[in-house]
Amino acid sequence: MSDALLSTYDRAPITIVSGHGCTLVDSEGREYLDCIGGIAVCALGHAHPAIAEAIADQALRLVHASNLYSHEPSGTLARELTRRSGMSRAFFCNSGTEANEAAIKLARKWAFRKNEPQRTTILACTGGFHGRTLGALAATENPKYREGFAPLPGGFAFTAYNDAAELETKLDERVAAFIVEPVQGESGIHVADVEFLRAARALCDERGVLLIFDEIQCGMGRIGPLFAYEHFGVRPDIVTIAKALANGLPIGAMLVGDKAAEAFQPGDHGSTFGGSPVPAAAALAHLRVRDELRLEGRVRDRSATLFALVRELSSRHERVLGEPRGLGLLVGVPVREPFEAKAIQRAARDAGLLVGTAGGNTLRLAPPLIIEEDELRRACSLLDTALAIAA
Ligand SMILES: Cc1ncc(COP(=O)(O)O)c(C=O)c1O
Repeated sequence: MSDALLSTYDRAPITIVSGHGCTLVDSEGREYLDCIGGIAVCALGHAHPAIAEAIADQALRLVHASNLYSHEPSGTLARELTRRSGMSRAFFCNSGTEANEAAIKLARKWAFRKNEPQRTTILACTGGFHGRTLGALAATENPKYREGFAPLPGGFAFTAYNDAAELETKLDERVAAFIVEPVQGESGIHVADVEFLRAARALCDERGVLLIFDEIQCGMGRIGPLFAYEHFGVRPDIVTIAKALANGLPIGAMLVGDKAAEAFQPGDHGSTFGGSPVPAAAALAHLRVRDELRLEGRVRDRSATLFALVRELSSRHERVLGEPRGLGLLVGVPVREPFEAKAIQRAARDAGLLVGTAGGNTLRLAPPLIIEEDELRRACSLLDTALAIAA
């Protein structure tokens, strides 16, 4: 481990040197079954040959030319993502927080262009997480992330997750957009009620407000369909994605529907590296392999297995674990006090299993979407071992 890195992370005392499929290998040669997948990033697992080849081929042709010119990978990726989402336009950046920054700026510009400059507020949900840059952080209500960074930009307000009645009172004539995660990740894996999202859609239409879905964690097939909104049957005006888009290379995207597609004009927004050829080529390879493997159906099957295994584990360790929550392969398992999710995570790592944690003392499972049934069974058996040690 390097003591030259800023201590922004409470890093585990292992150094990862390689990976293959759902396995990661550390510098001592120890193998770990990876059930966090780079925090919902490595949908196709590690060292997938199609991703590696796409990266190598593109790197040998063109790594960077800037957004002053068109280049084939980003143009093709924009067409693929708009075709698959039914949105009209794509903007590329390098991370999730930047995708949300773009959405915040676009919403305000949209209101400004339609002669409603008073509409500047971005309404977000309690428990939501939208990123660490100042705008996205201002849309993130949890004091844990905000403390010590005041003053944050103004023009943000909050409403309770899954509370349509409160939303109705908060969507006033100063609101430009309402941003919501269809499944909240960082808060501990909380799924939106379909009625809440439907009400949000109807109210946003009625009040002239843009509806933004932050699918940075729950999108790109994590809960089954490519876009989480397909699961809920509610289409937003803007969807932000990142994490799994290029299976580990840095890229984020904001996809914009017809309503706001013209809000940005040349010069309004930009990014030097956004949609660079190599990550764009990796993202295209990811989409191709996803189709070949019919990942949507696989995620549905694996999800049923994982939930059954985790429910069984929770009932055997009911002193320690609560009922699992989530959708697809994004699963949160609440840990009861006085037990600690972090201690169980450490014991799991010692047993050879990598899991994550999330808010509210929750264990977070987000394995690669290619995980096999027997690997899920092995993961739960390792978790069983860890629970026996940590609890
Ligand atoms: C829902 C959501 N939005 C935004 C972000 C920020 O993404 P990034 O870390 O790529 O900036 C995250 C990251 O965890 C996230 O889960």
